[in-house]
Parts: sequence; structure tokens; C-alpha cells
Amino acid sequence: MSVYMIRGGNRLAGRLAVHGAKNAALPILAAAVVCGDSVIENCPRLTDISVAVEILGHLGCRAARQGDAIVTSREGGGDCRIPDRLMGAMRSSIVFLGGMIACHGCAELTLPGGCELGARPIDLHLSALGQMGAAIRESGGRLYCSAPRGLHGARIDLTFPSVGATENTIIAAATARGETVLTGAAREPEILDLIDFLRGCGARIRLERDGAIRVEGVEKLGGTRHRVIPDRIAAGTYLCAAAMTGGELLLEQVDPGHLASCLSVLGGAGCQVSVGPDWVRLTAPERLRGFGTIKTMPYPGFPTDMQSVMMAAAATARGSTVFVENIFESRYRHVPELRKLGADIVTEGRAAMVTGVERLTGADLCCTDLRGGAAVVLGALAARGQSTVTGLAHIDRGYDDFAGKLARLGADIQRIEGKERKEGTDEEDGWTGTG
Ligand code: UD1
Repeated sequence: MSVYMIRGGNRLAGRLAVHGAKNAALPILAAAVVCGDSVIENCPRLTDISVAVEILGHLGCRAARQGDAIVTSREGGGDCRIPDRLMGAMRSSIVFLGGMIACHGCAELTLPGGCELGARPIDLHLSALGQMGAAIRESGGRLYCSAPRGLHGARIDLTFPSVGATENTIIAAATARGETVLTGAAREPEILDLIDFLRGCGARIRLERDGAIRVEGVEKLGGTRHRVIPDRIAAGTYLCAAAMTGGELLLEQVDPGHLASCLSVLGGAGCQVSVGPDWVRLTAPERLRGFGTIKTMPYPGFPTDMQSVMMAAAATARGSTVFVENIFESRYRHVPELRKLGADIVTEGRAAMVTGVERLTGADLCCTDLRGGAAVVLGALAARGQSTVTGLAHIDRGYDDFAGKLARLGADIQRIEGKERKEGTDEEDGWTGTG
């Protein structure tokens, strides 16, 4: 079992370049199924990205890493199926569905895995693809989809701006017959990046002022060279790490516009924040002030993916913070871990009340999910004394060299490598039920 050994209490300071966004790279790789040969630059080195590369191989699209890029080329052939092991590895594997049906006319999958954040249905994905002409049948936890005559455009209204359903619909619509008009769509920066990539490949996609996304299907897409946007959640995580240790951080290769809601919270908590075209500088006070109320919302609201790390920061702030989780029904699995450090957090339904304590104390901790795991590490970095953190496969899904980067900022953190095993099986932890 791999473990972080952390001696908390160091002030984090320095400069850091942020890697490409996992949540942008994944749908772009999924879209590569319907595109020509492409070079996707700034693809982070993460286990989720390796899973996506492996899935592409099964679908008849060769994908290989070249430096910071992944080079894709359609080889033809390929399967209508994604192996169960890869479907279980991460929830975003469902984003391959639209491209698979568009490209192969069929798809057979198990229902996707994912971080355990409560019920994560895929009804919106299936309804959109159904309206575009896919026949979808679910039986015994498997989905059987077919569209022997191809997909066609449709008017689709999403009842919730689901990120994944928006991405699946756009990818499917890019080569569907006729026009698709998607209303109620999500507008996260990662979706705009997917659209940029597809446009580079020749897709005809327009963003309307009223929020609708209009896709005029083309017969065939070409390839392109595209650079993935910076990871706003990784950026926000490092900012929180500096903020809660009284530190100072210059973050480079970021888009400050994508971080607006997070920077506004940190500014309100007493940090000095300045931004340039692709950098953010943060200088933290000795102790943060409580954040008031933070409600997670679709972009440009406060991101659900930042809720846990911001909660770790709130745990040592002077004063209280209330979190309201509006996106996922159960996203507080990190709370018991933060409590082990001495954090004063009470949850009730979708709300969490945090009363900042002056000091956290080191403890033996476990990552519960990707962003919850990052929160647990941040808590340990701010705590007095020694902590251990296990469950690192979760962290590896979303942070490239997390410990190395934190150590370069002055954290006392060391990773001891071991073989990760799930209890009672010889399966490697992190590949099931963790996406
Ligand atoms: C994506 C992100 C994830 C982020 C989330 C919300 C990726 C790889 N993952 O996940 O990090 O936390 O957006 O910003 O980009 N829902 C339905 N039916 C559906 C689809 C979703 O009810 O068919 C619900 C979900 O249960 C959830 C909410 O909608 O409560 C948001 O989910 P969605 O936006 O789809 O998130 P993901 O695409 O899974």
C-alpha cells in the first residue's frame, strides 16, 4: 500500500506551473473516436488519462503519449465494447458513448464506475442519445445501444446542466445528420475546450447568446493540434494549500478567469490576490477568516470539485463557514477524515457547518475519493505533527506528482511506494469504483 508521510505545519511558498485539465482532456480524447489524426497537447500524466488511452485502443483509435501530448490516429476496425474493467475505472468512461454510437453504429457497456458521490444517474446522456436516434436497452447492468442508420440531429433540452451529458451530446451531434440544438447545456470551461477541439477538426458548433449550443452535423471530421486548458481544480487545490498554511504562491499556466469564484472566496478570507493573463499570485494572512456560506453551483458558480479542499482550508480559519452542496447528493466523505485531525465539522443533508479550530493535529488518514483525498492531504499539511495518508490511487487520478509539487513548495511530504491492494481481492485499488 502506498502512503504519504506528512509532517505538517510548514508554510508553503514558491511558484508552480499547473498541468492540463483532466476534465477537459478526457472528453477531448473521447471525441478523438470521431475525429481524424490529432495531437492533443498539455495532457496531464494521470491514471484517468491512461484509462482513456486504453479505451481508445479498444475502439480502433491508436493513442500514444509523446512528451506532454497524446497523439491519436483512427486505425479503423475496433470494437463496439469497452471492457468492464475500464468502464468501472472512472465515471467519465460514459463520455465515450456518443462517439462510439456515431462511429460504430453500436455500443455495449456496463454502467460506469465513479467517485462515490451518491447516485450518479446517466438518464440525461441516454435520453439525449435516444432523441438522436439511438435505440438503448439496459439489461443486467449493461447498456446495449444501436443506431444502424446513424444518428440524426434533434432539439434536446437538458433538465439539469450535466457536464457529461452535454459533452456526450456535442460529440454525437458533430457527425450526426442535420442540426442539433441543445438547451439547458452546461457551460463549464472544459466544455468550451471540447468545442474548440472539435471545431479545429472541422465541426460546426455555435454558442448562442441564450446559452443554447447549436451543432450542424458534418459528414466527416478531420484532425487538429489542440492544447488542453489548464486544470482549474488542481490550481484551486494548490491555492488552498498555500492559503491555509499562511503561504505565498505564484501559480503559472493558469486561466485566472476560470478561478474567479475560488479567488473571490480566498480574497474574502484575507488573502491578497493578484492576477495576470496566465498567472495568479496569492499571499495568505497568518490565519484565514471564515468564508461565510459557500454554495456549489454549475459554472460560473463555485465548483463542487473545490468544495472539499476549501473545507480543509475552512477547518483552520478564524470563524465559521457553511457549505451547501447542490450538485451531488453525497459529497462529504472527506468529513470524517478531517475530523480525525480535530476539525469541527457537522453535516446535515446537503449542508456542512465548519467551525475553524486554531490547530489541527496529525492522524492516520485515508483518501475517500479524488478531491476528498486532496482535502485530507491539505488538512495533514496544516496539522501539527505526523500524519499518514493512504488510498493514493484516488489522488493519482487527478493530480500529477502531487507530493513532489507540494514538497517543492516546502511541504514535508514523502511518498512511500507499495503495491495497492483492495481488501479481500488482488485487484489494484483505484481501478474500481473510484472515478
Ligand atoms: C463532471 C466532472 C466532475 C464534476 C461534475 C460537476 C468530469 C470528468 N467530471 O462530472 O469532476 O464534479 O462534472 O461539475 O468532467 N445527473 C443526472 N443525470 C445524468 C447526468 C447527471 O441526474 O444523466 C446529475 C448527477 O447525478 C449530479 C449532477 O447531475 O448530481 C451533475 O453531474 P454531471 O454534471 O453530469 O457531472 P459529471 O459529468 O459526472
